[in-house]
Amino acid sequence: MNIIVTANYEVLSETAANRIAEVIKNKPNAVLGLATGSTPIGLYKKLVTYNKENLIDFSRVTTFNLDEYIGIPASHTQSYRYFMDYHLFNHINIDYQKTHVPNGMAKDIQAECEAYDEMLRGHGGIDIQVLGIGNNGHIGFNEPGSALTVGTHVTELAQGTIEANSRFFSTREEVPTQAITMGIGDIMKAREVILLASGITKADIISRLLEDKIDTYIPASLLQAHPHVTVIVDQLAGQLI
Ligand code: F6R
Repeated sequence: MNIIVTANYEVLSETAANRIAEVIKNKPNAVLGLATGSTPIGLYKKLVTYNKENLIDFSRVTTFNLDEYIGIPASHTQSYRYFMDYHLFNHINIDYQKTHVPNGMAKDIQAECEAYDEMLRGHGGIDIQVLGIGNNGHIGFNEPGSALTVGTHVTELAQGTIEANSRFFSTREEVPTQAITMGIGDIMKAREVILLASGITKADIISRLLEDKIDTYIPASLLQAHPHVTVIVDQLAGQLI
């Protein structure tokens, strides 16, 4: 794994945006794997700016998001579809039909998961996958456990994840307890991965990600077996490495 420690969150966001710009320049119909959460907001802001400055053309780009809560509609301000529209898709020249987020309201969730993987395969897989990391080492919503799932699946959110995400909801009870997430196999098949982490609360998990052995109890550690991963952190998240 390559590691880049940047001076601050602004530079972290710019570094990630520059890499994505390069990928799209080399392959205008690139497939991007995208994440939500607070970490990539700065990256999406930069991508919007680059698009406005005509430095990136998204017209032929396809996107697949990692995950979505089960049980809240796309119109809910905390749904990941809403997040992506708000921070990125509404502001760039992407064909909205080419943006994919799992449907957490699907009647048949199992069929939704299978269709998502089928669609990913149909597009030839992901060229570059953006990841954040949970304090517990989760990527997407692949939570720590004795076994990890390969494809897109339904997952129960860990208590710590519900706790962490409750900052976006008015009460803890409102936080969904289940989500659809791409599996570890989907992420590992991406041709390139950039994992972003910012702030002191991520310092411990970043040092464990880089230094511990591969362990299903730190799902992100599986990335050690991926041939093209860049971990981009700011000073605070990189403090213990
Ligand atoms: C979001 C996702 C999660 C987040 C992680 C970090 O789509 O898949 O794995 O990347 O929970 O979240 P933040 O960036 O809010 O610390």
